[in-house]
Amino acid sequence: MVQPAINAATRLCAVFGSPIKHSASPAMHNAAFAALGLNWRYVACEVEPKLLPEAIEGARILGFAGLNLTVPHKLLAVDMMDQLDASAKKWAAVNTVQFTSHGTIGYNTDAEAIITSLREDLKVSLAGNKVLLLGAGGAGRTAALKLASEKVAELYLVNRTQSKAAEIAAEIHRQFPGVKVSTDYPKAEVNLVLNATSLGLKPEDGLPMDQQRFNLKQARHVYDMIYRPAETPLLKAARAAGCKAENGLGMLLHQGAKAFEIWTGQTAPLDVMRRALMENVYGIANP
Ligand code: ATR
Repeated sequence: MVQPAINAATRLCAVFGSPIKHSASPAMHNAAFAALGLNWRYVACEVEPKLLPEAIEGARILGFAGLNLTVPHKLLAVDMMDQLDASAKKWAAVNTVQFTSHGTIGYNTDAEAIITSLREDLKVSLAGNKVLLLGAGGAGRTAALKLASEKVAELYLVNRTQSKAAEIAAEIHRQFPGVKVSTDYPKAEVNLVLNATSLGLKPEDGLPMDQQRFNLKQARHVYDMIYRPAETPLLKAARAAGCKAENGLGMLLHQGAKAFEIWTGQTAPLDVMRRALMENVYGIANP
């Protein structure tokens, strides 16, 4: 479909974050708008946390259709919305904003995207299974609560700052009393190890877990939320140990696809978006 050139009727979306210049979201969304012939465009804006309220208000005044919010804005934005969708209320974080005639609506498309990608990319089953989750920051908290809501049998929450893992464990006890939680490494096998720490992003990073305390041979599947580099030290070690392993590109794809559908009301062209991500992130033209 032919996409109209930018003109006075062009609708705008943006991602706000800091840092933002390596974001793959513009490539993914602009490819989707073009594929559907929509006169929409998506840009990335560096926004400091202290200016987030003004930036959101500015986008509203300028008639933007929607926003994505990324690090460090997702938690801050919860109190800045006129309304919160059930997803944003449940996960207490906003990564997608829709501007409507009634004001701003905040959504969270991250939590569902984790599960969709785990099922699609790793074919992992969660209900009744054991999961080792590494990391208890913003992403770790959302993943932990979402996994608990998927009725995993037992969650092992491991984090450098142990008190943060303990806080999430207490919240799971309150909200999901049927799920067993511990804040230590598992002694036996687990179905999934999920990395939600930022360890692996930098070339000098090591593994986000202690191999003296947990041997990757005890895991069937390993998922790293990091997607750049494509193979983190954890994924490399997991494959060497015989695990089925996948990076977080599918999570990025599915949170974006859901945001696209919220803004445009149209079905997201997943294959187009996936190809655009592969090209932008890994430089692979025709995967
Ligand atoms: P995000 O929103 O991406 O989750 P975050 O909230 O800053 O970002 O969380 C980063 C996660 O990576 C945390 O679990 C953090 O551990 P702490 O809670 O102890 O800070 C983890 N992390 C970051 N750098 C780390 C390092 N060098 N070693 C171990 N864990 C690290």
